[in-house]
Amino acid sequence: MIPVIKTVREVREHVRAWRNEGLSVGLVPTMGFLHEGHRSLIERAVAENDRVVVSVFVNPIQFAPNEDLESYPRDIEADRALCTDAGAAMIFNPEPAEMYPQGFCTAVDMNGLKFELCGKSRPIHFSGVCTVVTKLFNIVGPDRAYFGQKDAQQLAIIRRMVRDLNMPLEVVGCPIVREEDGLAKSSRNTYLNEQERAAALILSKTIFLGQKLVDEGERDAKKLIAAMEANIATEPLARIDYVDVVDAENIERIDRLEGEVLVAMAVHIGKTRLIDNFIASVE
Ligand code: PAF
Repeated sequence: MIPVIKTVREVREHVRAWRNEGLSVGLVPTMGFLHEGHRSLIERAVAENDRVVVSVFVNPIQFAPNEDLESYPRDIEADRALCTDAGAAMIFNPEPAEMYPQGFCTAVDMNGLKFELCGKSRPIHFSGVCTVVTKLFNIVGPDRAYFGQKDAQQLAIIRRMVRDLNMPLEVVGCPIVREEDGLAKSSRNTYLNEQERAAALILSKTIFLGQKLVDEGERDAKKLIAAMEANIATEPLARIDYVDVVDAENIERIDRLEGEVLVAMAVHIGKTRLIDNFIASVE
């Protein structure tokens, strides 16, 4: 089994030793409770780097007080087994006090990209993500860092942050991994009871419907959103947070589908908020 490292100092010692051997380093930042989606990120990182660090840290500053910080699922031994099997070299699993010691008062924030989609109902979320991801980049100093396309807005934000702040690494986005029936893999799927799990299929079904409509030529964002919302409304357990169409790079709303567009949604199934999306390249 690979080591689970708790301190910044020890991570740096390991990475320094690897660097002295001339090895490249990949980082997969996660909040743990790893599933096949995370495994795909780790395996990609293992294929592209000599050593891979997986961080497992449920980052308190990206959760609002009414969100699921306390109940977020955790299982470090299962995570360790998955990371070992997938070929990672080390897990970094710090305590909150290691990341945010007494007196911590610095934040990394954006003036754009965070206002639409998830940013509307989670106004502090992306500042928390940017801050912790910056810290992880500074602690590990990776050549490449791997993020899932399921969190499309997060991926766009991290790409922009890395570009804007000249962070010396490559950000690699990896495709959404789905269950056999279509539901996008998420650690939060474990919150769903049997009835909710069945109801949650409305997300992927609606994503596939949206993709089909775009393939068939729909270019009007309002019409696309209306069709997708109407489909979600057929599921009594679903409550829409948003369905929206934005420019995939700037995360700004668009009226007509043109270029790289992100069609994204967040839907509550019971108490669980789930997200899904697709990117379309439109002529
Ligand atoms: O996507 C996640 O799991 C988290 O937002 C991340 C990137 C690990 C930062 O806490």
